[in-house]
Amino acid sequence: MKITVINGTEKHGVTYKLKENFLECFKDKAEITEYYLPKDCPSFCVGCTSCFMNGENTCKDYTYVNAIEKSLLEADLIVMASPAYVMHATGAMKALLDHFGYRWMPHRPAPEMFSKRAVIITQCLGAGAKSTAKDIKHSLSWWGISKIGVFSGALMGDIIWDKLSEKKRKKLTNKINKLARKFSKINYKKHAHTKLITKIKFSLCRLIQKKVKKSGVDSLDCDYWQEHGWLDKNRP
Ligand SMILES: Cc1cc2nc3c(=O)[nH]c(=O)nc-3n(C[C@H](O)[C@H](O)[C@H](O)COP(=O)(O)O)c2cc1C
Repeated sequence: MKITVINGTEKHGVTYKLKENFLECFKDKAEITEYYLPKDCPSFCVGCTSCFMNGENTCKDYTYVNAIEKSLLEADLIVMASPAYVMHATGAMKALLDHFGYRWMPHRPAPEMFSKRAVIITQCLGAGAKSTAKDIKHSLSWWGISKIGVFSGALMGDIIWDKLSEKKRKKLTNKINKLARKFSKINYKKHAHTKLITKIKFSLCRLIQKKVKKSGVDSLDCDYWQEHGWLDKNRP
């Protein structure tokens, strides 16, 4: 199986430690590819909207975004890890998610995403790990992923792993290991179950695209839906 990991920071801190713990369960059976932000996608989306209008290959950051996307599409499991920065995902993670705006369901969702699993790993000092996970989950679910596991933790002590109490370290490690065991038992040859809410979102987006088609307006998104047969009987 293949795992693609997006690290929302380059720091080898607590998020890194927990992510390494998670991957431990997969080390002997998975091909793991990791990206570190901002290094692997250093520029912000500037809002030119060219990805939506003219195609993702016209983005000034296409080389970076495309390399990551290819890896995400090939992965059986996607892992997104970020500490909380002011109660949210790191700016670097948000910048990457912005670059994938064109992959949201109302635009040009990748069919591969509907059968994937993902795990989000977030932690913070006191408060904000849950809202950080929500930031990431929002994108993943609108990319079409139904099965998303979440680890969120609060250190409530020190920000350095080795300075945390033994009890706290054990609690966090047990929690991440439990999630890792759950995801390592999955048969990745089988597609993930598509949730009802994903189907509802898809149907609403389909209605929008059908309206666009009826209006006769030129739209890359609408052409994409048509090419995939989603305006007819096909489904991702
Ligand atoms: C810019 C910045 C903002 C932060 N904001 C929060 C926050 O809103 N809530 C919180 O509990 N911790 C916050 N922290 C603390 C980090 O989430 C915490 O230290 C975390 O363990 C860092 O993870 P790391 O070791 O993987 O970098 C912030 C840290 C930084 C650098």
